[in-house]
Parts: sequence; C-alpha cells; structure tokens
Amino acid sequence: MSGMLYGGDEIGALVFDPGHHSLRVGYAQEDTPKAEIPAVVGVSPDNEKIEPEVKQEAGNVSQTPSGWKYYIDTTYLHTPRSNLELHSYMKDGMIENWDFFEKVIDHCYEKIIQSESEYHPVLFSESPWNVRSKREKLTEIMFEKYKVPAFFLVKNAALAAFANGRSTALVIDSGATHTSAVPVLDGYVISNAVVKSPLAKEVIRDKEKPKYTKKNISFTPTSSWMTYMVKKTVQDFQQSILQVSESPYDERVAASIPTVHHEFPTGYHQDFGPERFKLAEGLFDHAMLGAGYIAATSAGMCDVDVRPALYSSVVLTGGNSLVQGFSDRLSKDLSSRTPGSMRLKMIAANGTVERRFGAWVGGSILASIGTFQQMWVSMQEYQESGKVQIDRKCP
Ligand SMILES: Nc1ncnc2c1ncn2[C@@H]1O[C@H](COP(=O)(O)OP(=O)(O)OP(=O)(O)O)[C@@H](O)[C@H]1O
Ligand SMILES: [Mg+2]
Repeated sequence: MSGMLYGGDEIGALVFDPGHHSLRVGYAQEDTPKAEIPAVVGVSPDNEKIEPEVKQEAGNVSQTPSGWKYYIDTTYLHTPRSNLELHSYMKDGMIENWDFFEKVIDHCYEKIIQSESEYHPVLFSESPWNVRSKREKLTEIMFEKYKVPAFFLVKNAALAAFANGRSTALVIDSGATHTSAVPVLDGYVISNAVVKSPLAKEVIRDKEKPKYTKKNISFTPTSSWMTYMVKKTVQDFQQSILQVSESPYDERVAASIPTVHHEFPTGYHQDFGPERFKLAEGLFDHAMLGAGYIAATSAGMCDVDVRPALYSSVVLTGGNSLVQGFSDRLSKDLSSRTPGSMRLKMIAANGTVERRFGAWVGGSILASIGTFQQMWVSMQEYQESGKVQIDRKCP
C-alpha cells in the first residue's frame, strides 16, 4: 500500500467516535472534533408522495423513496413535530441499527466534512467489548458503501489513554449509559479484565405539582421524542446541580451544605440541597457497582506484575466524569482499595472538551502519527482478503 497517499497534506484522515450520547467526528491532527451529533435519528412518515428516484435534501432532513423523512442533528431533532419518532442506533456500547447509523454517517460526509468519503482514511473507535460480527460489518460498510481508501478500528479506552499521554493505564470511562474500568497495556486492552456497570440514577420524587403552562402546539409529540427531551433536561440538571460527595452519602452532612437553585425549561424552579448528592451517589454506591469498586476489581483481575503500572496511571474520561466531585471521590474511594505497596495516581484532563472527547482526541493523535500510517487496512488489502483483515490488523 502507498503510505504517501495518506501522508499527503490535502488528504486528511477522519476520526469517528460513536457513543450512546453522541457521535464525535472530525479531522485527525485537530484538537477537537468538527461536530458532536446526537446518537439518535428522528423518523416521520412522509405524507407527500415523491417520485421513486428522487432524493431531496432540505437542510438536515432527507426524504427517501420509502416514504420516510429522517431528521439528524440538534436543530432538527429539538423541534416538536407530529409523528416524529426518535430512535437510538446504539445498544450496550455497540452499533445496533445500521440503517440509522448510516444515515448519520451520510450526514457527516455531506454536511460536516463536506468532502467525498473515498478521499479520507477513516479511524473508528469501538467499545472494548465490541463483537467480531459488528467489527466486520462496520469494515464492510466503510469499504463497500463509503469506499474509504483505508480503515482502522481502535478500542476507545486505548485512545483515551493515548490522549492522556499514556499507553499503559487503567481507564475509567463514565459516559451516558455506563461506567467501565478498562486496563490498557502498551496500547492493548486486556479484554478479560474489563469491568462495567450500568449508570443508575434514582428518579427524584415529586415535591409538589409542577407549575407551568404547556406550549400551545396542535398535536401531541410522540413519546420517544418526549423521552429524549426529558433526558436532555435531566442532563442539563446533572451538569449544573449534581455533585458527588467526598465520602459515602450522609443525609446530615448533605443537609449542611448550601443549596443550589435550578430552573427547568418549564419555568418550574426549586432549591436543591441533599438531593444534589443523593442522586449522584448512585455513581459510587458499592451495591450498584460504583466507579471505585469496578476500578479495583478490574486491576485485581490483571496479572500481579502489571498492577503497579495500572494503579500509577488511572485515566479518567467520559462526559459523566465531569459531574462535580467525581474525580475527588473516585480518588478517595480507590485509594482505600489500593494495596499499600502501590502508588495511586489519577490522571484527569482539566478541560471539559478533553475529558468528554478523550477517545476522539486519542484517535486524532494516533491517526496522524507517522509510524501509524503502515497500520491502516487499505482498500487493496480489503479487496484481496476481505473483512477478516480487520481481525488480523486491529487488535
Ligand atoms: N459538564 C458536565 N457535567 C456533568 N455531566 C456531563 C457534562 N458534560 C457531559 N455530561 C454528561 O456526560 C454524558 C455523555 O458522556 P459521553 O459523551 O462520554 O457519552 P457517550 O460516549 O456518548 O456514551 P457511552 O459511553 O455511554 O456510549 C451525558 O449524560 C452528559 O449529560
Ligand atoms: Mg463513551
């Protein structure tokens, strides 16, 4: 394969980092992704009959001959429309619905990258527990449908470690749906020592009837759209209000800390006190497989020889780790579980962007390193040996 082709200035590799919350996409070598696109696709029946071959584009809405309209990206998703159903294409950290996923990738090339897919090598991140059939399917789609000149898959935890300047680390990734502890050794994930737990957040009980006037729209939004918007509201609440307490939740301690006022989009507002801590406690509660517990369990499942290296390089990544107090509590929780003979060091990027986009940033660095250029699975290799090439070249 020709290394020159990929080393050229005008031909930039692209990095895609899919997650449950969003898909991050952009050019390798850049500091941040070009776009972060919600990991849902809106679908509504298309009432006007259109000619079978015609595919109209209007902003981010695409009409297809099948009689459906697809809505992608924030502006289009956040507007209520009758019969607009939102679908997630991710499940358990992996791509589940390929049709919807492809709609989003189409959108990336057309509207974000605005360049033909056959010009850019593509690096995709994947979850540490991705399965062979899905890896091969993605490889097939990228080469067959998008005709990419070269492709590569890397575990997102390994990329997050690279982004933090480490090739060996215990990566704690707390994202939209789960927290995982993933040991990375010399850039390779130790798969049989990966530990994960679903994120559990208690639903707050109603204090009083909300007071607000409903927006005046002539139809009832679909329940999938309502669920999505409620989730978004909860996320905003989480970002500004929730805080992990330093030690396991204690009602009296929590009550002595100043309250924070929050107003919801409906106009409903309240002072939040102990709830701020109580809701965040789910992230660390032992019974629920909290972050400190899974980190120690994961390290404990690795060879004794590598444990010191893991404990001395605990990398924190994922948007959810930005909840106030998360890293302090993890540090405290983990140090109480760290064997006395080992030194514990936590590495958590200070910037919100670096923390939320850790895997993407790692991919951006990796794909632009000179020595990496020979690692790509080229179109030629794919044509000669097929999709199994991905299992040979990408660990
Ligand atoms: N500043 C912040 N404070 C608190 N939470 C935040 C902040 N920024 C983002 N989040 C939360 O982080 C989550 C998204 O994290 P991330 O982007 O790592 O998820 P993802 O990779 O798409 O999902 P997953 O890893 O579950 O597949 C959302 O729930 C969001 O509300
Ligand atoms: Mg993630």
